[in-house]
Amino acid sequence: MNDAKTPLIAAADIENAHVRGMSAYDQRVAEADADYDAYWCERARELLSWRTPFTRGLDESQAPFFKWFEDGTLNVSYNCLDRHVEKGLGDKTALIFEADDGQVTRVNYRELLARTCRLANALKARGVHKGDRVVIYMSMSIEGVVAMQACARIGATHSVVFGGFSAQSLRDRIQDAGAVMVITADEQLRGGKQLPLKAIVDDAIALGGCESVANVLVYQRTGAAIHWDSTRDRWLHAETQNQPDSCEPEWVGAEHPLFVLYTSGSTGKPKGVQHSSGGYLLHAALTTQWTFDLQPDDVFWCTADIGWVTGHSYITYGPLALGATEIIFEGVPTFPDAGRFWKMIEDHRVSIFYTAPTAIRSLIKSAESNESVHPRSYDLSSLRILGSVGEPINPAAWEWYHQHVGGGRCPIVDTFWQTETGGHMITPLPGATPLVPGSCTLAFPGIAAAIVDETGADLPNGQGGILVIKKPWPSMIRTIWGDPERFKASYFPAELKGYYLAGDGAIRDAQTGYFTITGRIDDVLNVSGHRMGTMEIESALVSCTELVAEAAVVGRPDETTGEAICAFVVLKGPRPSGEEARQIANTLRNWVAKEIGPIAKPKDIRFGDNLPKTRSGKIMRRLLRSVAKGEDVTQDISTLENPAVLAQLAQSN
Ligand code: WT7
Repeated sequence: MNDAKTPLIAAADIENAHVRGMSAYDQRVAEADADYDAYWCERARELLSWRTPFTRGLDESQAPFFKWFEDGTLNVSYNCLDRHVEKGLGDKTALIFEADDGQVTRVNYRELLARTCRLANALKARGVHKGDRVVIYMSMSIEGVVAMQACARIGATHSVVFGGFSAQSLRDRIQDAGAVMVITADEQLRGGKQLPLKAIVDDAIALGGCESVANVLVYQRTGAAIHWDSTRDRWLHAETQNQPDSCEPEWVGAEHPLFVLYTSGSTGKPKGVQHSSGGYLLHAALTTQWTFDLQPDDVFWCTADIGWVTGHSYITYGPLALGATEIIFEGVPTFPDAGRFWKMIEDHRVSIFYTAPTAIRSLIKSAESNESVHPRSYDLSSLRILGSVGEPINPAAWEWYHQHVGGGRCPIVDTFWQTETGGHMITPLPGATPLVPGSCTLAFPGIAAAIVDETGADLPNGQGGILVIKKPWPSMIRTIWGDPERFKASYFPAELKGYYLAGDGAIRDAQTGYFTITGRIDDVLNVSGHRMGTMEIESALVSCTELVAEAAVVGRPDETTGEAICAFVVLKGPRPSGEEARQIANTLRNWVAKEIGPIAKPKDIRFGDNLPKTRSGKIMRRLLRSVAKGEDVTQDISTLENPAVLAQLAQSN
């Protein structure tokens, strides 16, 4: 937030910026205000190549199931590949892949198109049709991007599952999506370790419920020995090697589902967020262009995994739609040492760097104790724009990022958005918006972000409230796969006047109107920029029926990961202590890792004879959040049925 103590940092003076100066920003906002539909239609004509031009923009007739550019047809992979080759950019490097061990592979647009076509043909040869769902469970790789593009080319709807999810989570997603194919790798390489992927797919299928899967396509990454079921397993290289280099794109309607991506909500089951083809690609491309001020010679690096929406919009789709050169990184920021990011920026002359606050915070720690991994030990002069995503960036991390990574000269775009929004909603534009550390500043032009109370009434600047988007925008979630009622209830609650409910609290600065996100208002946690539902973790814990009677999960602030998962558990047996408690806590952590994935492992597990409940039997989560933080909670427990458990629950294991 801005006040007298935190002055605005002037916007960078970028001569040829796409949006140069606040007047240019204001002008675009004014255009969108004056004729919202015309503003978006113009963007869609400018940025995308349509097979059949659309004749209208927004269709609100089925609200909140909004449609955009519905009678237009296009192909997403055509927009990301062919059109650049047709314009003579076939030799331009599209992807610079750096493997875990440092080996570098470059792919130009012509080759990327050919590889996409070969795989697209292979998918068709295995009977994958337009509208079929394909689950992609892959490491960061050229093949992962090719797999997504190949699905887009034939109109198959992909659902990428992050390689850190467990067999159980993968099974649930395969089943919910009704996938006909899974594309995976034998193993993934991260930080020098070989981690299984195919074996997890085998386990997922063995759990049952995946009968829809006819084929499992396996990319050979490490050559490790893997179990092989010749009735369904196929090597990707064998399937693609004799396929032709060209494949006529499947022209789809703008509303055709490009992908479904599962994310956590406030209830147990993950939601399959369904995105469109036209509106989604438009905003992925437009935000890549304006938020990062992408220019033809830039080397763009988004460090996210393709298993998250950030990797969809800012690796696979946005940069490629604009014909950019980008980095794909297989490994982790700390291998072989915590200077890896800085070394890669130096080696590849990266000019735009987009990462998460958690990564910054953990690299600050390493840099401060070891000069050789400090950013100042590297030549980072190629950088011109920095980005942050996934969670609030605290001012101290912002300052360090700005000074030590950006050399004090690179604007930081703190981009607020969500899986559901498809692209940036609130963010600075680097050549226009003056910056304030810790604020995501102003809405992207054409995005009607606002702060309201529980009745949907506008709140004045300076007063915190509920973040909503008042008007539908092109890249918004279309529905929850297979659950339209949940879509309506989750995002368009009756009391909010038809506004999109983001699920975050926010406040606007009284003077500048700048937004600061104050955190989720539902039971969703943000751990290292990964979204986790507390209910999901609770269900995982209580599914350990041998040990657990009851569980409640809350978040507590963590210096590095933003939030940490804290679980309060009542066991079936007596409350353990000492070594026994530590052992059971570890058993439960591994149980959660098996049920959901290692990212969901609770950092703290605390045992009590009971959970703090009101006299009507409701678990007092607010109180648990205070206990988790280590706050003194002896006041404010008048309604508590069993105050004695608080002392037990204050102890960490
Ligand atoms: C939630 C969405 C956005 C892609 C990656 C995460 C939080 C995201 C910011 C930011 C403060 C942020 C919000 C949001 N969030 N970006 N710049 N400042 N909070 O996508 O997994 O769908 O999570 O991440 O709480 O609702 P996601």
